[in-house]
Amino acid sequence: MLAAIGLAFVLMIGLFAPPAAAQKTDALPRVLVLGTGGTIAGQASARAGNAYDSAKVSSADLIAAVPGMDKLAQISVEQISSIGSQDMNDKVWFALAKRIRAAIDNKEADGVVITHGTDTMEETAFFLQNVFDTDIPIVLVGSMRPSTGIGADGPANLYEAMRVASAPESRSRGVLVVLNDTIHGARWAQKTNTTSVDTFRSPNAGPVGYVDTGSLRYLQPAVAAKGSKLKPPDAAPLPRVDIIYSHANMDGSEIEDAVKRGAKGLVLAGVGDGNSSKGAIDALAAAAKQGVVVVRSSRVGTGIVNRNVEVEDDTLGFAVALDLNPQKARVLLELLIANGITDPKAVQQAFAW
Ligand code: DGL
Repeated sequence: MLAAIGLAFVLMIGLFAPPAAAQKTDALPRVLVLGTGGTIAGQASARAGNAYDSAKVSSADLIAAVPGMDKLAQISVEQISSIGSQDMNDKVWFALAKRIRAAIDNKEADGVVITHGTDTMEETAFFLQNVFDTDIPIVLVGSMRPSTGIGADGPANLYEAMRVASAPESRSRGVLVVLNDTIHGARWAQKTNTTSVDTFRSPNAGPVGYVDTGSLRYLQPAVAAKGSKLKPPDAAPLPRVDIIYSHANMDGSEIEDAVKRGAKGLVLAGVGDGNSSKGAIDALAAAAKQGVVVVRSSRVGTGIVNRNVEVEDDTLGFAVALDLNPQKARVLLELLIANGITDPKAVQQAFAW
């Protein structure tokens, strides 16, 4: 009994240990910050009361404005792009991947923080998850309110992301997303609210941990990241993969148009369990016969798409996205096709976690 109380006390001390405030600067972990833009770097605009322009403030200025960061880590900052994440693209992804690869190979950093708009943060996080098998923490952070907004959430989010990226207990957890005191895994993180600061959720799995200015808690032990490791091409673009959004009264024309435009892969954002009208399924089957890789996902937002329930995937040559939402399924399929993985069975295997 006494031993149990003692152990609980030791664990509590571990959980509530103060940030690395007392450490000497050169003993602090080295964290590389890569800026891409987004609302976290946004500034108020005169357009309307709540209007702002994203990607106006440099990451160096953002970091400098957050007190106490220098007590957490030795920080170096580089600006990779200055865009709202609605404009996120292959070129920025490759630039991020190249810089992170160099930092890993040269043993320059113990952790990486990427500042990013929240709109496509989950796609960038999942792209990086699929191309890196490093155990160093790669942490994406953003904010829902601009740096000049009332109640800006960027400073706290940045501090918490730095805390996560600089902590040894964050190693071997894959790529992480940190906002609003919550840590999400890249496979599960999803933006779920248009404007709330509490927008990121992991609907199929729950968060991997919680962080605030005083504590960092993971809910499970670390395990090596489970994404398939795929090489990004040396230059843009990734092969074209279109998302087809399913709806009532749907025919196959959008699918036929996408194939005509040169799509090498199609992700169905299907109704329910990744389903669609007969016209759409017939058009997808015809596309698959022509060599277009077809993956069925769901527009529902939670749950896992199952094989061969209402749609005969084995016969039609389709793969299913399982728990991946359409936008993440698109990222993985682009990478798979770029790496020559197009056989439906191999594609299906790569989608499993
Ligand atoms: N422009 C959007 C973006 O950069 C705003 C959303 C945000 O950053 O929170 O993703």
